[in-house]
Amino acid sequence: MKAIVCTKYGSPEVLGIFNRPKPSISKNDILIKTHATSVTAGDTRVRAFRVPLAFKLFGKFLLGFKKPKYNILGMELSGTIEAIGEDVTKFKVGDEVCATMNGHRFGAYAQYCCLHENDMIISKPQNISLDEAAVLSLGGRTALYFLNKANIQKGQKVLIYGASGSVGTYAVQIAKYFGAEVTAVCSLRNIPLVKSIGADYAIDYISTDFTQQKKTYDVIFDTVGFTNFCKSVKRLNKGGYYLQAVAEPLINFKMIIKSTFSSIKCIGGTVTRDISEFYQLKKLTEENAIKPIIDTTFNFDQIVAAHRYVDSLRKRGNVVIKFN
Ligand SMILES: NC(=O)c1ccc[n+]([C@@H]2O[C@H](COP(=O)([O-])OP(=O)(O)OC[C@H]3O[C@@H](n4cnc5c(N)ncnc54)[C@H](OP(=O)(O)O)[C@@H]3O)[C@@H](O)[C@H]2O)c1
Repeated sequence: MKAIVCTKYGSPEVLGIFNRPKPSISKNDILIKTHATSVTAGDTRVRAFRVPLAFKLFGKFLLGFKKPKYNILGMELSGTIEAIGEDVTKFKVGDEVCATMNGHRFGAYAQYCCLHENDMIISKPQNISLDEAAVLSLGGRTALYFLNKANIQKGQKVLIYGASGSVGTYAVQIAKYFGAEVTAVCSLRNIPLVKSIGADYAIDYISTDFTQQKKTYDVIFDTVGFTNFCKSVKRLNKGGYYLQAVAEPLINFKMIIKSTFSSIKCIGGTVTRDISEFYQLKKLTEENAIKPIIDTTFNFDQIVAAHRYVDSLRKRGNVVIKFN
């Protein structure tokens, strides 16, 4: 099979296409013929080993010292089940599925992937295409995980920062579904996009700093890690939530202090692997409450161009990499 291999840490050119053996399955595994995967901000960060200073050593242990240990990147996929192990009960051959890969082992940048039936896999929502399903699980589950923690009530004011990215576009739609009044923060060119997916208000962060405005919020969700923590929490109502999808050690420390000594609740860290949340995401998709936003679709042999684009930090929604 063909696989995109990250030969060392570095610029997008370190990615190359190589032949690799098709994975073999054991009794509880399923073999997925990959239809499509994505390029996420996380993939580009691992490829370039762009890790906060405090995590550099731990990051090398986890990911590999000179080059990635698990050198087939890719965190999510959609595809069709080609074979199942003898003890598999949850899926059958021919099922269309979408899945998140197992943490730092990645592996979705390949024509075939082997997963355990109890991994983060669901059957594809009926009302979306396989291309859309490929980019549902990572951004969608991240947005849902954080917004579920904030227990949003109808009419609450929610600000989504980085609203035009993958996590951001799902977050706008999910917060709206929960009944919130949604303010989306993005650049001017993305205001029509965020309004089209449900934002009630949009702020261009180049011309307007929301932390300098009078308006306050019940929830501020920074999906891209670019808010100023101390200024942002001042815009929260009593008992409000500050959600942070990007783990920076210093910010995490400030978040713990703030949560301990004030009524503000700060939530960061890594999304947990909760299959029930994946089913909730599927239900929201099938109810047409959310729809994956696709920016550009690349063929797998255009992977270098796709990574270069995501490196630009200008992607809107999601970038799809097609295998079939
Ligand atoms: N905690 C977890 O478990 C978890 C899980 C998944 C992802 N993540 C992290 O979440 C982050 C977001 O991922 P993503 O895939 O949603 O990112 P993304 O799609 O790559 O983000 C791109 C978006 O960021 C916006 N942006 C760039 N600079 C900005 C700025 N200064 N202010 C506001 N927006 C800006 C851009 O909008 P404009 O062009 O309009 O500026 C663009 O639409 C990543 O760091 C990822 O690693 C965390």
